[in-house]
Amino acid sequence: MATGGLLAGRLALVSGAGSGIGRAICQAFAKEGAILAAVDVNKNNAESTLSMLQDGPHAAFSVDISSSSEVNAMMAQIKSHFSQPLIVAVSAAGITRDHFLLKMEEKHFDRIMDINLKGTFLLNQAVGRAIRDAETKDGSIINISSISALRGNIGQANYCASKAGVIGLTKTAAKELAKFNIRVNAVLPGFIETPMTDVVPERVRDIVSLLIPLGRFGRPEEVADTCVFLASDKSRYVTGACLEVTGGLYM
Ligand SMILES: NC(=O)c1ccc[n+]([C@@H]2O[C@H](COP(=O)([O-])OP(=O)(O)OC[C@H]3O[C@@H](n4cnc5c(N)ncnc54)[C@H](O)[C@@H]3O)[C@@H](O)[C@H]2O)c1
Repeated sequence: MATGGLLAGRLALVSGAGSGIGRAICQAFAKEGAILAAVDVNKNNAESTLSMLQDGPHAAFSVDISSSSEVNAMMAQIKSHFSQPLIVAVSAAGITRDHFLLKMEEKHFDRIMDINLKGTFLLNQAVGRAIRDAETKDGSIINISSISALRGNIGQANYCASKAGVIGLTKTAAKELAKFNIRVNAVLPGFIETPMTDVVPERVRDIVSLLIPLGRFGRPEEVADTCVFLASDKSRYVTGACLEVTGGLYM
C-alpha cells in the first residue's frame, strides 16, 4: 500500500468498481494512498479490481445501487468493516440501454433512470450523511455524468436524460453539503475505451474519432486522474463543477 500520496489514508468508496472507469479510479486512488471500499453489483469483479492493487486494507462489497435497502445495507457493512470514516465517494456505476426515441421501451427508460440517476441520488444521500457524521474537512463526492448530458446523443434519450439529471443533482448537493465541508462535483467523460463503448461499431468509432480534437477515444485512467484531483485537496475550492474529460469533443 502506498504510504504517501494525495489521498493518503483516506477511505474512498467507488461504485462501479468492477469494470472500466470505476476500476481505473480504484487503481489511481490506491496509488495515491487511499483505502478502497470497492462496490459493484458484481462483487467478483470488484474483488478482481482489488487483486490488481498493492496490498492494503481494501475491501469489496456487493450492491445494486438502484435499491435503497441494498445501499443502506452496504453502508452498514462498510461502517462496521473499517475502523475509520468515509471521506471520499465516487458514483461511477452506470449502464446503457440504447434505442431511438420512437422505438425506446418504457422499461429501458425506467431502468436507466433507476441505476444512473436514482442510484446516484441514493449514493449521494447515504455517503453525504456518512461524511457529514465524520466531521471531516476533506469530504469529496464525485459523480460520473457524461458529455452526452449537455449535447444529447442519437439513440440515447434515456441515458442523456439520466446524466443531465446527475448534473442537477450534483449542483444541488454541492450547495446543500458545503456547510459540512463536503464538495460535490461531476465529471463528464466523452468516449472512453471501456466495456461500455466496446459495442460501438468500428465505422462509428472512426467517425467519432474524427470529431475529437485530440483524435482518439480516452482511456479510463485519464478520467481517473481527474477524479484524483477532485478527491484531493488540490481541488479544495472546487465544488458544483462539471469537468469535461473528452479530448475536446463538442458534438
Ligand atoms: N465509457 C464511456 O465512454 C463513458 C462516457 C461517459 C460516461 N461514462 C460513465 O462512466 C461510468 C462508468 O462507465 P464504464 O464505461 O466504466 O462502464 P462499465 O460497463 O465498464 O462499468 C460499469 C460498472 O457499473 C456496474 N453496475 C452496473 N449496474 C449496477 C448497479 N445497479 N449497481 C452497482 N453497480 C452496477 C457494472 O457491474 C460495471 O462494473 C458510467 O456511469 C458511465 O455512464 C462512460
